[in-house]
Amino acid sequence: MLKIRVGDFKIGEEEKMVINEILNSEKISEGEKVREFEVEFAKFVGTKYSVTVNSGTSALIAGLVALKYWDGLEEVINKKNKKKVITTPLTYIATSNAIVLSGFEPVYVDIDPKTFVITPENIKSHLEQVKDPSEYSIILPVHLMGYPCDMVQINKLAKDYGLYVVEDSAQAHGTTYKGKKTGSLSLFGIFSFYIAHNIQAGEMGAVTTDNLEIARLIKKIKANGRSCDCPVCKRAEGKCQKMVSSREEDEDYDPRFVHEIIGYNFKAMEFQAALALTQLRKVDWITRKRNENVKYLNEGLEELSDILQLPVYFKDVSYLAYPLVIKKPKLVNRKKLRYELEKKGIETRPMFGCIPTQQPAYKFLKEKYDGRLPNAEYAGKNGFYLGCHQYLKEEDLDYIIKTIKNIIKEKFR
Ligand SMILES: Cc1ncc(COP(=O)(O)O)c(C=O)c1O
Repeated sequence: MLKIRVGDFKIGEEEKMVINEILNSEKISEGEKVREFEVEFAKFVGTKYSVTVNSGTSALIAGLVALKYWDGLEEVINKKNKKKVITTPLTYIATSNAIVLSGFEPVYVDIDPKTFVITPENIKSHLEQVKDPSEYSIILPVHLMGYPCDMVQINKLAKDYGLYVVEDSAQAHGTTYKGKKTGSLSLFGIFSFYIAHNIQAGEMGAVTTDNLEIARLIKKIKANGRSCDCPVCKRAEGKCQKMVSSREEDEDYDPRFVHEIIGYNFKAMEFQAALALTQLRKVDWITRKRNENVKYLNEGLEELSDILQLPVYFKDVSYLAYPLVIKKPKLVNRKKLRYELEKKGIETRPMFGCIPTQQPAYKFLKEKYDGRLPNAEYAGKNGFYLGCHQYLKEEDLDYIIKTIKNIIKEKFR
């Protein structure tokens, strides 16, 4: 029986070689490879800077904490109680967790049912209805499944209300929106390189930005708030700018052990960066294959579109997976359908759940949001996804199509 995974990672000759190079160098903690990845990834996304961290969750936390330190914002946020962050209820839980853990308050607006992302219309009508829009400081859209949010309109709205915009692009490496990559469309973007994502490294994350101060702050926050924050570290060449500039005052000054703010340890390892670089070199192929696979599956499953909402197809989207939403839940039960698919070797994942109403960790918000986010609740309950990754062959795609059709015919009609 074929095994169709949600994501797949092939350790080929190139991957083995780069790992061996790191082992042979005997330098495994963050160093040259991480720096190389930062330069290449910033080029890929189209931002001036990219700072590597150990996960996408860390990237979100580091970015949000950096925003607080930036521009004296922390004082403003605390004094004026500007803690609210407008975000999506339908996403992997990390987005909300990072908001809460960095001292902000998530406020959810509903999604577009076809692309699963928050819409400028919903953000606008929310801001128009609230008593005090000055309690808000950030809009944090998530490009879910690779679908880009309408960033032009979101940025415009943010300008009107004096809010910052930051993007969670953890699921959208390589998606282009009006000619620019997601992750480059706001103050900063974040990415995850977790195993099933389009560029993968096992675990790792990045923050991308054009803002030097934000990049510097994130460099500090990811390393326990240490003074080191140069975009490119020159210490190995004996050219540490901080050491040189402080020489006259304090001969013994070492910026690695002077801590200017209270931070975390979010540093990555050389292995992760080396693996991510191998994937980055293949990213055009990865994006194209995934995009073609979505198109192929859609064509094959078209006749089921009265029962299953097939993913909307756009040429510029770098798809994380193949999302399906059951249109007739009374006829087709998600649990049963997923069970039947798994039995046939097709892995699936539920569509995250609507965070404030369907995730136990957020039950303190359930009463406030019950029934108010119908699209997210519907997709959270009736949506699921399967793989569309680059290693699937035509016979795998045909197998998926045939199996779904058979299951629907035999078990649900
Ligand atoms: C939308 C989104 N945000 C954040 C994250 C967190 O990334 P990580 O798992 O690398 O911490 C993920 C991970 O899947 C994600 O999908």
